Amino acid sequence: MTERGPDTPTPEQRASRRQFFKFLAASPLAALAYSAVPSSWLEPLAGEVPPPGPATVPCVNCGAPALPPTTMAAASSSSLSAARSAVRALPRQQMPQVMPPQQSQEEQLTGGEISTPEEAINVWDLERAAHDNNLAQHWDYLHMGVDDYETRVANREGFQRLQLRPRRLPSEAQTGLDTSIEILGQSFDSPIFLCPVGSLGAYHTQAEVGAARAAQTHNVLQMQSNVSTQSYEEIAEARGTPHWFQIYTNPDWNRNQRLIDRVAAAGCPTLVWTIDLLGGSNRELSRRSLSGEGTDSALCQQCHNHVQGYQRPMAQGLEGPSGERPPYTWDYVSRLKDASDMTLVLKGIVTAEEADLAIEHGADAIHVSNHGGRAVNSMWATIDALPEVVEAVRGRVPVLIDSGVRRGADVYKALALGADAVGIGRPYVWGLGAFGEEGVDRVLDILEAEFRMVMRQTLVTSIDEITPRHVMEGRNPILTRHNQFGFGL
Ligand SMILES: Cc1cc2nc3c(=O)[nH]c(=O)nc-3n(C[C@H](O)[C@H](O)[C@H](O)COP(=O)(O)O)c2cc1C
Repeated sequence: MTERGPDTPTPEQRASRRQFFKFLAASPLAALAYSAVPSSWLEPLAGEVPPPGPATVPCVNCGAPALPPTTMAAASSSSLSAARSAVRALPRQQMPQVMPPQQSQEEQLTGGEISTPEEAINVWDLERAAHDNNLAQHWDYLHMGVDDYETRVANREGFQRLQLRPRRLPSEAQTGLDTSIEILGQSFDSPIFLCPVGSLGAYHTQAEVGAARAAQTHNVLQMQSNVSTQSYEEIAEARGTPHWFQIYTNPDWNRNQRLIDRVAAAGCPTLVWTIDLLGGSNRELSRRSLSGEGTDSALCQQCHNHVQGYQRPMAQGLEGPSGERPPYTWDYVSRLKDASDMTLVLKGIVTAEEADLAIEHGADAIHVSNHGGRAVNSMWATIDALPEVVEAVRGRVPVLIDSGVRRGADVYKALALGADAVGIGRPYVWGLGAFGEEGVDRVLDILEAEFRMVMRQTLVTSIDEITPRHVMEGRNPILTRHNQFGFGL
């Protein structure tokens, strides 16, 4: 577990930050994005709960006296948390007979609000906390999928349709599970990695550096986005070892070359070219929540343009003579590969044909991704695309995958189908947005613990023992978590 970082807010600071965001959320612009939030999240609970009276109602199961009717009324009419507080306030002798109200069932299943990283039981607990701590527009940007979110949903359903084939015996106490991997000449303690996500400073002042410190603690791979809030050099220094850099290519080849030279000089071992946004993407939630004004709105400009002529760190220092505008073809992959000594990964491949072509043109690894359902609305889960890519790759290069990974079991399933490493995007940003470095640390703790449990349940002691025989295709997806507010994807 990591120490609280200097920028990590105390619970009191978080509370006042929440108040600030709630104030902002009260603006007509931001109110749009808050319309889906249960009102109980935004209202103070004090005063909602009547003092517990002596009368009780019978428990529906055993008939014993349970909640006082006044408390039941509070639970059904307003907040579940309020009902819980009322339960806690009951005289001690009544406590054993208190049953949770039926209405709390959804909260029991999906989790409530948390105020420390340790309280998080799964990654979605941090999702809620990040939502609470962040500007509505920033939250929307993180949450958003394209069109009607079908690809986002498909990513989850893909994992949920895939079933585990556990092993039972011989069951011995398994200590010292080996979760380490080696990929493109680097060793990591876990197959889980942090995907490139732009503008992490929007979610916490620690930004990429906070994520880097947590990644370092866990010795996991981290990819930095081209549109990061902090520079490659700052992040590498915080992490202590060089990480991978993701590039969105510029039409001006010379700018690309200068950027490539810069990160290579800083020690970056691997360049990741993201190709799944080249055709554009339909991001309706962002357009809606920015009310048509985009970041030109007064609210956005307060932060986005507070420094005249501001440029993102990785866009700085690239000025110079402009270059040609080569077309994005397969030869472009070879050109990127030849532009430095770094190894090259193509991110956004979902078909066998393109995996094959990518390797033919110099890619050193294939990253199966649909950008977390934020690019093409293919309605196709990456876990469903993985087998054909793995088959086409035929072990020539490593295969990475991301999109929709939320459980250690998902990591396991992807490895079983042939992935070499498994990435998370939103989950670590939920952790960052909730508690900075400590939140990312908690997300990794949770996923790694879940993953190790599945290893024990299937009697494997190292990654290379996980095979396709450990999973099978289920007939129907099992969806338990997706609730009416859109959380839990
Ligand atoms: C807010 C946000 C910003 C992202 N920014 C980038 C980016 O700058 N470059 C990139 O290659 N992928 C980016 N991605 C995609 C992620 O790298 C990753 O593919 C995706 O988040 C994985 O899906 P998941 O969020 O369901 O885990 C972004 C994703 C999100 C949610």
